[in-house]
Amino acid sequence: MKEMLEALRAASRQAIDEAVDLDALEALRVKYLGKKGELTAILKQMGGLSAEERPVMGQLANQLRAEIEAAIDRQRTELGRVMLEKKLEAEALDVTLPGVEQPSGHKHPMYNVLDQIKDIFIGMGFEIVDGPEVELADYNFTKLNIDEGHPSRDWTDTFYFTKDGRILLRTQTSPMQVHAMETKPLPIRMIAPGRVYRKDEVDATHSPMFHQIEGMVIDKGVTMADLKATLNLVVEKIYGKGTVTRFRPHHFPFTEPSCELDIQCHKCGGKGCPTCKGEGWIEVLGAGMVHPKVLSGCGIDPDVYSGWAFGMGLERLAMGEYKITDLRLIFENDVRFLEQF
Ligand code: DAH
Repeated sequence: MKEMLEALRAASRQAIDEAVDLDALEALRVKYLGKKGELTAILKQMGGLSAEERPVMGQLANQLRAEIEAAIDRQRTELGRVMLEKKLEAEALDVTLPGVEQPSGHKHPMYNVLDQIKDIFIGMGFEIVDGPEVELADYNFTKLNIDEGHPSRDWTDTFYFTKDGRILLRTQTSPMQVHAMETKPLPIRMIAPGRVYRKDEVDATHSPMFHQIEGMVIDKGVTMADLKATLNLVVEKIYGKGTVTRFRPHHFPFTEPSCELDIQCHKCGGKGCPTCKGEGWIEVLGAGMVHPKVLSGCGIDPDVYSGWAFGMGLERLAMGEYKITDLRLIFENDVRFLEQF
C-alpha cells in the first residue's frame, strides 16, 4: 500500500505541475481527491491491513491528501499569475505614444453675429423669443394685414403644406409679432430670431431657407423717434460709432408708416463702389410703426398703445461682418471655409 501511495504522490505532483489551466487543475482534483478518486480508492483497501499498519498508512494517506491539496493551491496561484501576465501584456498601453487628435468644432460664424445682436438687445431690456417655423397662413399673412391678393401669398413664392393654403413654412419672422402680442403681458420688448422659407432658387444671394431677426416694442406713447433712436444705437454697436444711417420711406402692410434703414457704405463712404453696387448705401432692415389694424387684431387698443417693429436678414449681416461674398458658403458647412473664423 505504501508503494501505491508513493506512486500516486509522484504521478499527481507531475500532473499538477503540468496543468495548463484552471479547468485541468479542477479535473485533477476530482481525479485524485474526489469521492471516486484514486486516493479514496486506495483508502478503501485499508480494511485488509493489520492493526499496526492501519494507523501508519492512515497518516501517510492524510499527509498525501494535504500535499496534493497544497500542490493544487500552488499551481492555481501560479496559473493566476501567468494569466494576469498574459492579460497585461495583451492590454499593454504605452503612455508615451502620441495621442489621436480629436478635431473640435466651434460656433458657426453666423451664430457669432446672432449672439452679438442678442447681447445688444438683452442689454436694452429685450427678451428673446422663439416660435414655430410651420405656421398658419393666418399668422404669417392675415393677422399681419397682408390681404388675399398679395403676391407673397402666391404658391410660387411660399411653401404650403395643405391644398387649402392654411398651413405653410413661415416666409418671415413677423408672425412672431402676433404670437407675442397675443400671449405676452404689455409692455413688450422682444426679438425673435429664426429660420424662414421662400421658394427661391439658390444663388450667391438667395437660398430657400435663411434667417431673420424680428424685433418689436409695444408700450404706451411709443413713437417713430424711439424706433430711430434704438435702431441707430444698434447700428452703431454693430458697425461702429459714427456709422451714417438713412431711414427711407417704404411700404409694409403691417406697419404704418414703414421705412427701410440703410447705412452709408463703409467701403466708399457713400460715393458708390462694388460693395454697395454703386448706390453709396447698403440696406440693413425693414421697420415701421405697428399698424393699428394689427394691434387691434391682437386685442390691443391702438388708441392706448403703440409700437414699432423691425425685421432684418441675419445672413446678410454676417456676410457684411465677415466679408463673405457668397451666401452658399454659409450653408455648405465646408470645414475649410468654417475654419477661417
Ligand atoms: N417681414 C419683412 C420681410 O420679410 C421685414 C419687416 C419689415 C419686418 C418691416 C418688420 C417690419 O417687423 O416692421 O421683408
